[in-house]
Amino acid sequence: MAEALVIKGLSKRFGGLRAVQDVSFTVQENETVALIGPNGAGKTTSFHLITGFHRPDSGSVLAFGHEVVGLKPHDVCALGMARTFQVAKPFGAMTVLANVMTGAFLRDRHIAAARSKAREAIEFVGLGAREQTPAKDLTTIDQRRLEMARALATQPRILLLDEVMAGLNPAEIDQAVALVKKLSASGLTIVIVEHVMRAIMAVARHIVVLDHGQKIAEGAPKEIVENPEVIRAYLGSYVHPPGDAHA
Ligand SMILES: Nc1ncnc2c1ncn2[C@@H]1O[C@H](COP(=O)(O)OP(=O)(O)OP(=O)(O)O)[C@@H](O)[C@H]1O
Ligand SMILES: [Mg+2]
Repeated sequence: MAEALVIKGLSKRFGGLRAVQDVSFTVQENETVALIGPNGAGKTTSFHLITGFHRPDSGSVLAFGHEVVGLKPHDVCALGMARTFQVAKPFGAMTVLANVMTGAFLRDRHIAAARSKAREAIEFVGLGAREQTPAKDLTTIDQRRLEMARALATQPRILLLDEVMAGLNPAEIDQAVALVKKLSASGLTIVIVEHVMRAIMAVARHIVVLDHGQKIAEGAPKEIVENPEVIRAYLGSYVHPPGDAHA
């Protein structure tokens, strides 16, 4: 198996706060890796560092062998890495189709081609019936589908998902899990940040645990849920997080 993403020694300080400290992990091609840990552990910051939204103080991020540290977000995206945002910021007045087309324009300058790529992504995430709906009128789960469709329309090989299941009810979480599995089955390499443990257990082959910016454990899901350090730092206080009734 080839390495899709190799992260080495990633660090970022905000003033005196060490948000991410010397974090390293590797994601194999077509693997789904989960990044978990308590609030403020540095998960979203890691995504910002990996995708060029923040520049790390030190460390390296190789995407399919290319160093992406120092590149702008759109250049990272052009190399095949796309992400969703924890706080979704769609263009509210624009339709689902128009929102997703903004992603498709990264590779297709022609409107017809971008529209067709956008439609493919919209169908894939199950938003076909909402194509003409203004983004601001979508339900929570459909907003998450839109986030994923926008990322997909850039035709990534690596997809980073930041809490796409937050605020969903148990039935919607099942739908979101099915969608993540479908994305993986389509060949994508996925890094997923999520607090819903039963969803993580259903999709991830490997889990990386952050606490106070540091990696405290990584391994197979079964090992991670039994790891005393992980239970102390995170799972012990997170047995039944909101929206995770079946954890
Ligand atoms: N731009 C910033 N400036 C200053 N501090 C920041 C900035 N971004 C994040 N932080 C701080 O860095 C730490 C890590 O934040 P981050 O958002 O990465 O956590 P997280 O693991 O994603 O948490 P959550 O589960 O709540 O989303 C937090 O203490 C946060 O307050
Ligand atoms: Mg976060």
